[in-house]
Amino acid sequence: MFHSDRIARRAAGVVILLGLLAGGAGAHELMPAPADITEGAGRLTVDAALGVAVDRPEDARLRAGVARWTESIRLRSGVAVATARGAAAVEIKTAAVRVGMPTLGDDETYTLAIDEHGAVLSAPTTTGALRGLATLTQLLQKDDHGWFLPAVVIKDGPRFPWRGLLIDVARHWEPEEVIERNLDGMALVKLNVLHLHLTENQGFRIESKLYPQLQELGSDGKYFTQDQIRHIIAYAADRGIRVVPEFDLPGHTTSWLVAYPELGSAPGPYSIERHWGVFDPVFDPTNPKVYELLDGFLGEMAELFPDDYLHIGGDEHNGVQWTANPRIQQFIRDHGLKGNEGLQTYFNRKLQAILARHGKKMIGWDEILQPDLPPGTVIQSWRGPAGLADAVGHGFPAILSNGYYIDLNYSAAQHYRNDPLPADTPIPPAGQKLVLGGEATMWGEWVTPSDIDTRIWPRTAAIAERLWSPRSVTDVEDMYRRLAIADLRLAEAGTHQDDESRIRVPGVDPASPTGAALRTLASVVQPVTHYKRGGLQPDVTQLSPPNDLADWCKPESLEARSFNQSVKAWLLADGALDVAGANQLRAQLILWGRASELVVRAPVAGNPIAQARAKAAATQAALCQTGLDCMAALLSGQRIGPSQNQEATDALAVAAKPTAAAVVFPTTDGVHLLLAAAEDPSARDRLPRQEWAAQLQKSIPVQPDDE
Ligand code: ACM
Repeated sequence: MFHSDRIARRAAGVVILLGLLAGGAGAHELMPAPADITEGAGRLTVDAALGVAVDRPEDARLRAGVARWTESIRLRSGVAVATARGAAAVEIKTAAVRVGMPTLGDDETYTLAIDEHGAVLSAPTTTGALRGLATLTQLLQKDDHGWFLPAVVIKDGPRFPWRGLLIDVARHWEPEEVIERNLDGMALVKLNVLHLHLTENQGFRIESKLYPQLQELGSDGKYFTQDQIRHIIAYAADRGIRVVPEFDLPGHTTSWLVAYPELGSAPGPYSIERHWGVFDPVFDPTNPKVYELLDGFLGEMAELFPDDYLHIGGDEHNGVQWTANPRIQQFIRDHGLKGNEGLQTYFNRKLQAILARHGKKMIGWDEILQPDLPPGTVIQSWRGPAGLADAVGHGFPAILSNGYYIDLNYSAAQHYRNDPLPADTPIPPAGQKLVLGGEATMWGEWVTPSDIDTRIWPRTAAIAERLWSPRSVTDVEDMYRRLAIADLRLAEAGTHQDDESRIRVPGVDPASPTGAALRTLASVVQPVTHYKRGGLQPDVTQLSPPNDLADWCKPESLEARSFNQSVKAWLLADGALDVAGANQLRAQLILWGRASELVVRAPVAGNPIAQARAKAAATQAALCQTGLDCMAALLSGQRIGPSQNQEATDALAVAAKPTAAAVVFPTTDGVHLLLAAAEDPSARDRLPRQEWAAQLQKSIPVQPDDE
């Protein structure tokens, strides 16, 4: 019930937005956009006469992919595509069967030709055919004549071979079902690396059979067994996705030291960290027993994880324990090392030798970059765009994560504009070849199983497009048009961003008007960006329940964005103000405003979270009233009165201030536009369109970290 009322609300917003997009109709709905697509005029009807024919039935991975595809068709359309050639057929032709695990550089290309007689999907490899099946899933459409696949010729393949999503299962535990449903989402948008961040200060999330105390003392009982990991790896491989494990070393290791305090650089004892931040505990690189443990443990992990690469972290080591330990400082002097940094390089070299012995290539965060790293070590750039150029400049392959930090709650557009190799890249051609791709990073401080999908999707689909599609695919409005559709397809594939059961308050019946109002309010606000939440909610720890507005709402409210776009279009249209358009905008403001007022009236006694939420709701209610007041003035052709203008200015000022609820109010932008228009109602008739558009745009304050 909640799911469908959510979809209906969103669909209304999407329709408004779609109506605005000149030329949008008829354009393809695929995300990521294919490298090359020619849209034809006809269509292949999808009904009971359609069958699917696989030319290599011995390919079990492909058969499973085809079964998932036919199931996706059935779930949307009710049509059961036959698994044998019908009157019309989708033929799937592969040149080679992929039997082993997916590896970096696998051929993922495919071609797809659809006309009214049938479809032919051809690929050199099973993996390419799986990518083509993801495209076929997204191509299914319906109109008055029924379900169909549009006539197209697609020649497709990825721009970058490494297109990843990091999921941090350590700070907050994320169990197997979370990983699997997100693998389904990844497959739909052609991502091909799941990077599992498995160990952290706040948790040790993998079973070691050699050192069971690691998970027994370091995880609160929340960790993957080796059988579960094998299952996840197989599930990913079935979808053409590699799994790269990360064991963050030598810092970020409090949870290891709970079991092995003697391996730390300070005496301990240690306990699982519950807070967020950068912490002091770190392995002691001068202690030979550290390497014994790591050799045993990493050897065990090297057998468990089949991928060629193993991530050793290497980030954010603050050096505090090393500096404070005279024995460690003496070791640095005795070995002629360059301070703590030199000691970390010494440690990395030892790690490298361990990994090499176990047949793994090393990947680490950009702190590990040293000219004498073994060739082929992959650098994951996170601290700034310069890191990527620096790494490849030294001859190391690299992937980009700076700019893809989806935990920071920036818009899809901001991630989308972040190209690893933009047209004006300073990286020379030889270095460009070393840029393997990038990864979105779902860090775990502020997500739990109930809301992690809302942080990942749909924005990560925009990152997937940036990494798959040609550099020339850059139209942000068209990306949003397709993102709204991809969002629905992702939810159908099993991701939970639309599962509103996360929005609940003890004592409030979800089916009550207040329950519905909480969901409506959550749909129109967003969590604060960057690392601001930690400052606004310093008492929240790993142990706190996820019961706050900032947990429920999505990083980017497509409803709010759609509203803002509609306001802009309404104000910029030629001729008299459109009354039907006005009524739609007013209806939206009334809906949001009433829901917000209901939340204001919900009981808050003695509960600071509820008080903060009520205050946020009051802010949203005032914004909605401001918007309505401005529209009333505009529709009557009058300048907004001084007292209402003051109220409007006050409401906008309140909405701009961070509060304990740690949310922001994206509809503020649309309300700014309405106020600017209501302050100068004749400007719309008086000014040339471009000047009028510029005057409106100037009314929206630019947030420093939104630039
Ligand atoms: C990181 O975000 N510390 C890699």
